[in-house]
Amino acid sequence: MQILLMGPPGAGKGTQAAQLVKELGIPHISTGDMFRAAVKEGTELGKKAKACMDAGQLVPDEITIGIVRERLAKADCKQGFLLDGFPRTLEQAEALGRTLEELESRLDHVINITVPAEDLVARITGRRICRACGATYHVSFNPSSKKDRCDACDGELYQRNDDQEATVKSRLDVYEAQTRPLVNYYQDRGVYAEIDGRQDIDKVLADILKTLRGA
Ligand code: AP5
Ligand code: MG
Ligand code: ZN
Repeated sequence: MQILLMGPPGAGKGTQAAQLVKELGIPHISTGDMFRAAVKEGTELGKKAKACMDAGQLVPDEITIGIVRERLAKADCKQGFLLDGFPRTLEQAEALGRTLEELESRLDHVINITVPAEDLVARITGRRICRACGATYHVSFNPSSKKDRCDACDGELYQRNDDQEATVKSRLDVYEAQTRPLVNYYQDRGVYAEIDGRQDIDKVLADILKTLRGA
């Protein structure tokens, strides 16, 4: 199954993706995670990406499209994949369409997790991530029982560099200007569904799985 998970920053894409890929046995392709890994490794790509991410801006299309093309061509994507955070511009969406055509593949589902703008800042500024296993928490909405350590692996929890309130504002503006137009783009292509992301995490997951299974 080829799935695209869309939604504004903080909507819950990463939280849902982690459960969905476990359930469906397909790789999770998150451009944000790929850029953060490159930053950690200190590669050239990482240096370029860091400047954009810290400013709350998008990494240029030619870089982003290139890494996704490479990733989708890998053998583990033959049985399906879940895209999270890509595409984010019309140019990226067109490029994805061409790449999938070359690979004789297509998107089966485009799932848009909707959350009103006023809820997103609190979600993002309260997010904490495990340094060891990448699990996502929220200080109020989804806290670890060990407070500043990970429930799953006891790793240290940290706050993403771009999750400070000032950066969050520009990320939300960038979403409105550059990424929201993709809603119409995919609505016109007929594989699009919206899920109410204000519900509890488990209910959002159940709704997504229902849509994927055509129930
Ligand atoms: P990326 O990492 O993709 O960030 P994003 O799109 O801004 O989305 P987030 O990861 O912030 O939110 P999410 O929807 O995954 O929410 P989460 O599940 O964590 O991108 C980062 C940067 O990389 C970009 O700004 C850009 O610079 C660059 N980049 C990435 N892709 C790019 C591309 N294609 N082109 C160009 N540049 C690109 O949840 C958020 C919080 O809410 C968590 O604390 C969670 O516990 C909590 N939560 C989740 N669900 C619920 C719920 N149902 N109820 C209550 N709380 C919830
Ligand atoms: Mg994410
Ligand atoms: Zn952990």
